[in-house]
Amino acid sequence: PDTINLGIFGGGTVGGGIVEILTQKSSYFRQLTGKTIRVRKVCVRDASKPRDFTLPEGCSIVTSYDDILDDDDIDIAVEVMGGTTDAKDVVFTALSKGKSVVTANKALIAKDLPEIEKLLTTLDTDDTQFRYEAAVCGGIPIIRSMQSDFVGDDIKLMSGIINGCTNFMLTAMDRDKKSYDEALDQASKLGYAEADPTLDVGGFDARSKLKILMRLAYGMDVEEDEISCRGITELTKMDFEYAKMLGGTIKLLGVAEKNDDGHVSAFVSPCYVTNDDPLSSVNGATNAIEVVSKNLVSSIYIGQGAGRYPTANSCINDIVALAKGDKTKLPFNPKSDTKFANNYSSVFF
Ligand code: NDP
Ligand code: HSE
Repeated sequence: PDTINLGIFGGGTVGGGIVEILTQKSSYFRQLTGKTIRVRKVCVRDASKPRDFTLPEGCSIVTSYDDILDDDDIDIAVEVMGGTTDAKDVVFTALSKGKSVVTANKALIAKDLPEIEKLLTTLDTDDTQFRYEAAVCGGIPIIRSMQSDFVGDDIKLMSGIINGCTNFMLTAMDRDKKSYDEALDQASKLGYAEADPTLDVGGFDARSKLKILMRLAYGMDVEEDEISCRGITELTKMDFEYAKMLGGTIKLLGVAEKNDDGHVSAFVSPCYVTNDDPLSSVNGATNAIEVVSKNLVSSIYIGQGAGRYPTANSCINDIVALAKGDKTKLPFNPKSDTKFANNYSSVFF
């Protein structure tokens, strides 16, 4: 068919951005892919809520998942509503019905990765694709890099700032002297926080992303709650003062490291970062992740980790790749028997 029809679950920060970019770039995408990409339906919770984006012609707002799931004309289901219960039903049903899925939902992927993978192996995955570039580090194309650029390499360490909301908050608290509550309020208004911001400030969102990266880098399925996790909720102004006196600042880092014995350790925690460390000057909703590996030595990825357009941009890349007919056989890379040995419990700030 020369038309690709989309059903989008979620018309909030990310969903609205996807609709906007698809509308603005529709003729370019047609030239690029040879297909017309049309948004047919956007599923939301409250149809009466005003939207900050314009619905394209021929697109309707719906409130029932089945309006998209039962529509045989919809080729791609884009899941950007969040959560791990209804979102799971939506993603699993869409895939089972042969629709490709594009999602930004790291909480769902991290929680149900083995089940998603099992389902994908039962499908004709050449035609029914699962893509999730936006799920880790928003606008940074880290999933694609992990799926392709390191195939001949051995990753030793992944370390960095992988949550935009908390990095925005830490910057606001340290540089702009905002209170914790002011900083969180501002991050939420800018669309950086999760619907439940506990996921951000508790470090859990970063932990979900780290788990996904660990699967891509080491082929392992570690349970999320095995990864030591501490958020930023206990940080006070004094901590920033002390960090400054020592010549540095505080960043919430996600770190996974393969030790010489082949075991992997991982943690999420606020860490003291010296001023000569490049991470110290990564501010606002920017994310940065260093990948240390045998062949490439050190690769640093830096870019916007949260927010409407950076995140929608990654979803768009997935959608356009599907429209072009790109087929990724193993969305999570092959599994290995790498062992998890968490010996990082004493590194907390
Ligand atoms: P928002 O809260 O801004 O939007 C969520 C949308 O989903 C809303 O339109 C809401 O409807 C709809 N929705 C929520 N629950 C339901 C439901 N049960 N039934 C129908 N519709 C529902 O979230 P975001 O756009 O910020 O995030 C969406 C996803 O993208 C999440 O998984 C998040 O983790 C991920 N993500 C977000 C990033 C960001 O920077 N914001 C970055 C990377 C990933 P209504 O508007 O009527 O309430
Ligand atoms: N709340 C998440 C963050 C959104 O701030 O990083 C992007 O994953």
